[in-house]
Amino acid sequence: MALLSHVTRKTLTESLRLGLKSHVRELQTFTLPDLPYEYGALEPAISGEIMQLHHQKHHQTYITNYNKALEQLDQAINKGDTSAVVKLQSAIKFNGGGHINHSIFWKNLTPVGEGGGEPPHGSLGWAIDTNFGSMEALIQRMNAEGAALQGSGWVWLGLDKESKKLVVETTANQDPLVTKGLSLVPLLGIDVWEHAYYLQYKNVRPDYLKNIWKVINWKYAGELYQKECP
Ligand SMILES: [Fe+2]
Repeated sequence: MALLSHVTRKTLTESLRLGLKSHVRELQTFTLPDLPYEYGALEPAISGEIMQLHHQKHHQTYITNYNKALEQLDQAINKGDTSAVVKLQSAIKFNGGGHINHSIFWKNLTPVGEGGGEPPHGSLGWAIDTNFGSMEALIQRMNAEGAALQGSGWVWLGLDKESKKLVVETTANQDPLVTKGLSLVPLLGIDVWEHAYYLQYKNVRPDYLKNIWKVINWKYAGELYQKECP
């Protein structure tokens, strides 16, 4: 996954508490991936101000807190502190999920001049027609599920690797799609947290959902689909 290109390695030297011998362990930490376009490049669908805050503040915060949780987990494991290990699971799921989801989300968007909003050609287009009837029907369904999602979360177009069927799913908070099924691969995720639209669309989430399709990068989703269903 492209995320790996943003992985930095930090070497932690620690002694085993059992006193057997010292050893060197490597802990992977993560850094904010660059956006593949300028902050203002998705306007008027999504304002540059939203994109900048979303990327530099929100995504960065998930990464910072994920790294912190991983370091704490590392220490807790070394100390054999099972309570601390268990306690860290929700922070890891939330912040690690936030990092996964936003890394996908940025690639799911692209400026209009670079193909944003152009319907998918090739096999993904056929699969959408087969599974949902038409592209319009898929958009309508994702918009309806995204608008109905209570609180914060994501609406996904995913591929079930086993059945090779496309699915629409929602996840709460920062749960990644894989929490809805181990065989599910995200092709397209739409962030329906208020931080993704409030500055521009206020409380009208359906308008944000209506406009985001103008900057969806179907080419990228099509490549992901092609990889799983050659
Ligand atoms: Fe977000």
